[in-house]
Amino acid sequence: MREHADKLRREGKTLVLVPTMGYFHNGHISLIRKGRSSGDELIVSVFVNPSQFGPEDDYEKYPRDLHRDLDLAEKEKVDCIFAPERKEIYSETFQTYVSLEKLPNHLCGLSRPSHFRGVATVISKLFNIVRPHIAIFGQKDYQQLLIIRRMVMDLNFNIKIVDVPTVRERDGLAMSSRNTYLTPQQRNSARSLYQSLKIAQELVKGETRDADKIISVTKKSILKYPETLIDYITICDPDTLERVETIDGPTLMALAVHVGETRLIDNMILKP
Ligand code: PAF
Repeated sequence: MREHADKLRREGKTLVLVPTMGYFHNGHISLIRKGRSSGDELIVSVFVNPSQFGPEDDYEKYPRDLHRDLDLAEKEKVDCIFAPERKEIYSETFQTYVSLEKLPNHLCGLSRPSHFRGVATVISKLFNIVRPHIAIFGQKDYQQLLIIRRMVMDLNFNIKIVDVPTVRERDGLAMSSRNTYLTPQQRNSARSLYQSLKIAQELVKGETRDADKIISVTKKSILKYPETLIDYITICDPDTLERVETIDGPTLMALAVHVGETRLIDNMILKP
């Protein structure tokens, strides 16, 4: 991969990387299309990264189908799929990780303590292997996006990070590979995440500015659906992820909800 990418660079090509864990859905396709229009050579990595899964997480059962991904990639005119083996990325003697001091101590980082260390590590490795000019990430994983932007600045990666809006099903559910785990009843309950964000947006557009009040209304709107369990609902500063009490400018609302065994996330910038 490195030799190939170096050769393309020497030819003066602009390299775009779309890092993924595979099992493409329309969310990935929108990242790939953004990538396609952002440079000359589009490289998509497919690697289910073990270091970002905790011991209780779904690493083994995470959906995989490389053949299907290759077909879809070909249709989208991807130039190169980089799908390394686990042992190529993490040798037996591997021991160096990238971790951030503050941003992981909020939202998903609280219930998945080593998750962002795994993400930052694998993304650093992919950046060092491919050395792209541009890399594309989705806004659905808002905290991940923020962490990668911070890491790129802190570690002087010479890479432009481009973000792409969340792609949703017709009823608003954010596309995710994990949606495939849901039973029909759970799929119905999963609508509650986006619905609650819209309820919050409506409240903010009215006169409600109190974050606790909004959180309590949206909590109720989710819990009325069967099999839902709230991990967190947070209203916070979109740059630092520190909680805010009163909404007086664009503010991030982010949530993680277990629907049955499946943990789903979503977010929205609330604008008064
Ligand atoms: O968002 C994902 O799919 C993963 O976290 C990423 C960025 C590919 C790193 O493994």
